Amino acid sequence: MKPIIAPSILAADFSILSKEVDIINKSRAEWVHIDVMDGAFVPNITFGSKVIKTIKGLTDKILDVHMMVEKPERYFEDFKNAGADIITVHLEASPNLHRSLQKIKDLGMKAGVAINPHTNVLLLEDILNIADLILIMSVNPGFGGQSFIERTYEKLKTLNKLLKVRNVNPYVEVDGGVGLNNAKKLMDAGANILVSGSAVFKAENPVEYIGKMLDV
Ligand code: DX5
Ligand code: ZN
Repeated sequence: MKPIIAPSILAADFSILSKEVDIINKSRAEWVHIDVMDGAFVPNITFGSKVIKTIKGLTDKILDVHMMVEKPERYFEDFKNAGADIITVHLEASPNLHRSLQKIKDLGMKAGVAINPHTNVLLLEDILNIADLILIMSVNPGFGGQSFIERTYEKLKTLNKLLKVRNVNPYVEVDGGVGLNNAKKLMDAGANILVSGSAVFKAENPVEYIGKMLDV
């Protein structure tokens, strides 16, 4: 599958949100990554359905919602109504992960599972038949602008072996500390969705930067 860039709106300047989304609109990015944080699963609080709805009104791109939230199922319907296309929940926050993914799919969205840096990829084995997307966190969730954790490459390779054995083909997304410097190596390791926050929005020309990430 050809790679997709998902700029993370967390790194945008919210005082000019519509201009920031417009940058994404003008670029070759296909998804917008939206980080929902609850101050419990992660130390930080961000935003919820109101901001998702606002972004939906500003773009036709796919809205990729990453929930760093305890009991995320409380919000699936709300987020669907706000315009989410994909909802990803954390394995570590979901005691009934299978049911959660099924609920997301029943609402007509794609369902993803995220794992933290300390979580073993092999724990995903029994969920692969239902997940549309696997998100490998390459930083500890909670904040933008952190350093990429190098071990991620090994995790991606292990995941891709597992996917082959199981004969399934979900999106493989990587999130945290991603930019031009590691995009090629990540794609080579099997990632096909690259989330990038600070690197994109701090670039002098974000539209060009996104293009370069795709052309590495
Ligand atoms: C971190 C978030 C990321 C974050 C990435 O918890 O899930 O999506 O916005 O930002 P950068 O690219 O700055 O690491
Ligand atoms: Zn994220």
